[in-house]
Amino acid sequence: MQKRASWGSQMGFILAAIGSAIGLGNIWRFSYMTYKNGGGAFLIPYLVALLIVGFPLLILEYGLGHKKHGASSLAFAKISRKIEWLGWWMPTFAYFGIMLFYTVIIGWCVNFMIYSINLSWGADPEAFFIKNFLQLSSSSTQIGSLVLPIVFSLAFVWLVCWFICFREVNHGIEKACIIFMPLLFVLTMVLIGWGFTLPGALEGIKWYLKPDFSKIMNWEVWMAAFGQIFFTLTLSFGVMIAYASYLPKKTDIVRNAYLTGIINCFYSFIMGFAVFSVLGYMANQAGVPVSEVVKSGVALAFIVFPKAISQLPAFNNIFGILFFGTLVIAGLSSAISLVEAFSRALTDKFDWNRKTTVHVLCVLGFLGSLLFATQGGLYFIDIVDHFINYYGLVLAGALECLLIGWVLKAHVLRNHINAVSGSHLNKLWDYLIKFVVPAILIITLLINLVKEISAPYEGYSIVAILILGVLWLVGTALLALIFTIPKWEKAKLEYNHFAEEDKLLV
Ligand code: TRP
Repeated sequence: MQKRASWGSQMGFILAAIGSAIGLGNIWRFSYMTYKNGGGAFLIPYLVALLIVGFPLLILEYGLGHKKHGASSLAFAKISRKIEWLGWWMPTFAYFGIMLFYTVIIGWCVNFMIYSINLSWGADPEAFFIKNFLQLSSSSTQIGSLVLPIVFSLAFVWLVCWFICFREVNHGIEKACIIFMPLLFVLTMVLIGWGFTLPGALEGIKWYLKPDFSKIMNWEVWMAAFGQIFFTLTLSFGVMIAYASYLPKKTDIVRNAYLTGIINCFYSFIMGFAVFSVLGYMANQAGVPVSEVVKSGVALAFIVFPKAISQLPAFNNIFGILFFGTLVIAGLSSAISLVEAFSRALTDKFDWNRKTTVHVLCVLGFLGSLLFATQGGLYFIDIVDHFINYYGLVLAGALECLLIGWVLKAHVLRNHINAVSGSHLNKLWDYLIKFVVPAILIITLLINLVKEISAPYEGYSIVAILILGVLWLVGTALLALIFTIPKWEKAKLEYNHFAEEDKLLV
């Protein structure tokens, strides 16, 4: 058996976990969602989602990785070979689903960081983004050709991921996050401070937070909140399980989970101030209400922001570089976490060399992401994001709760967590994991499914949805099965790192 690495310090673990959690999703997804779903009032479903689903699941994933001392594959296989498949499916679909397009979006940010130098998007950032930059094809069934500037930046992103990840976790990811995270906070503070000085900033922030309580009577808003919590805390990717497997025996799992969750959500909240100050400034310049300048998702970062950057009173290019640089760093520190989770899931089972595994995974990842660096890329991103996010993550999360809650038994994991943490999780956690969380997730899933059948997602061609959406889910499920089938070396499954503690517990 290969010797396992561990974090150099608890701080390294916390920074890496926060690095994984804080990503592209925190920067534009959160602020836009808050605005669209009731402003300040959205914070209520968001906090409820954090409390009911976020913390319990994060504690579960940390606890599982720590107790079983393994990435998702080994952790589940140690519970039972029958449920090992889920431990494979989580990192597989996250890697071949989310990761492939996520790296492309980080690549766009790299391109836009460079474009910021001379504000290359000119007077019409929308036409620039869609026509000149993406060279978007006219329909979602047309792949078109590869877009070279995107391919280059994509290669750069994968190169950085590879460079950080091929080393063991304490030499690669931990060191990278010790640099990335403080840098990210400084950049964010500069952006927020800068935003506040702009005329119209307060108006923008008022729009961001103005509570509209009528919105939160709508179940869709609640579903949006639950979906966002999943994505933002990197739950059911297998990442948090793998990260926790490198923790030392004594560690405060519960406190670590609270810290990660609170810092991540607080980051989203304050980044919203930067985003909306800039939007307020734009609206102020154009003499229109803020609602006329906001756009959703990708368009917010790559169309609205470039427009705003061009209009800034001074140092426009520096602001642009800072803004897109912040996105690049936030994105990279998330992307590396999944390379780690997947490669560790593989090397925990098969006696493959870590370096070779990471080399191969990064090359495969780069080749796979090329699909999203084509002229049809934006459509594919949208469809895969929709399917993997709503169905993949939520389904995996529900299964995870049920299997841990009923097969391993929630109280067994809780006892372990309490014994090593010094904090006291009570029985409420068991009920949440066994009943409440899976029920919420399954209901969310069913409601979405019904909606999907009655109207194909965003009116996309059903062919594109079928090929990309369904095949993706089925394809990754089969791949997970292939990894599950080979037998384990017996010693690996029986090896119990915490034998002494476990004897005291059970
Ligand atoms: N939590 C991240 C966010 O909010 C998402 C994320 C974490 C992610 N790790 C990842 C996405 C790895 C893709 C690959 O943006």
